[in-house]
Amino acid sequence: MTNPELFDESSPVDVADAMPSATPLEGTVAMVTGASSGIGAATAAALAVRGARVALVARRKDRLEELAAAIRERGGTALVLESDITEEQQATDAVERTVAEFGRLDTLVNNAGVMLLGPAVGAPLTEWQRMVELNVLGLLYCAHASLPHLLKAAEDGPRRVADMVNVSSVAGRVARAGRGVYNLTKHGVGAFSEALRQEVTRQHVRVSLVEPGAVATELVTHVRPEVVAALQGQVAGVQPMQAGDIADAIVYIVTRPRHVAVNEMLIRPTEQE
Ligand SMILES: NC(=O)c1ccc[n+]([C@@H]2O[C@H](COP(=O)([O-])OP(=O)(O)OC[C@H]3O[C@@H](n4cnc5c(N)ncnc54)[C@H](OP(=O)(O)O)[C@@H]3O)[C@@H](O)[C@H]2O)c1
Repeated sequence: MTNPELFDESSPVDVADAMPSATPLEGTVAMVTGASSGIGAATAAALAVRGARVALVARRKDRLEELAAAIRERGGTALVLESDITEEQQATDAVERTVAEFGRLDTLVNNAGVMLLGPAVGAPLTEWQRMVELNVLGLLYCAHASLPHLLKAAEDGPRRVADMVNVSSVAGRVARAGRGVYNLTKHGVGAFSEALRQEVTRQHVRVSLVEPGAVATELVTHVRPEVVAALQGQVAGVQPMQAGDIADAIVYIVTRPRHVAVNEMLIRPTEQE
């Protein structure tokens, strides 16, 4: 039963306004990088079930095909794009093939990333190169190729708004020993996102930054075993988030009404200090 005291003249709440105001994704097109596992796969699925046609980008084609089949079974539309986005041409081709196939691009989720932790002294330089090439350059290639299409979607699409969601990390906020180059790449993603946001927001391209804490994915499997052992204490006893928890946040961001831009979202497991 409604308590009339909750609604006095100083707070004229219209209960009808409390209904969800999400805008539907039917008719929109999204490209998700790193869609073969973890956060990217969950995000692509979440966007697809809400009506977006999704382009799935990663190197492991079999995993993308599996996800595409599952999306199609649910009545969705998915395009598999086997691409290594650290190669500029492949990143650009992924964007152009998405637009060629679906006719537009409303949403880019720049999610593909790698986290190769460990002390700087004696670190294999190849690990640093891989992180910069994927987390920074790969993201930039996709952003650069997508921007004209996002601007066009925001100008003449039915929703007249478009989204670029860049997946950073808590590591993009806080630097810690043993994570320097990962921190560097994710801080860079944050800096680029904010500058780009200012450039395109008046044209209704929303640039959003998502900064997850620990999520149970394959990310840590690429870290050298001796480094994993040293890090284990930091998250001991913490129940990690699931990839779907971050997908949920990304869906929230891209379904806001045109006049609302969620610029940044920092999301930690409740137990992560
Ligand atoms: N898990 C966490 O705790 C956590 C926390 C904060 C932020 N993040 C961020 O979340 C994002 C997704 O990570 P995740 O946790 O979901 O890890 P994940 O399961 O390892 O996913 C990484 C994705 O990136 C793709 N990828 C790797 N190299 C690529 C390349 N050269 N070209 C195209 N795609 C490539 C992988 O696919 P292929 O190998 O098939 O190419 C995979 O789909 C990353 O940016 C990560 O930094 C994760």
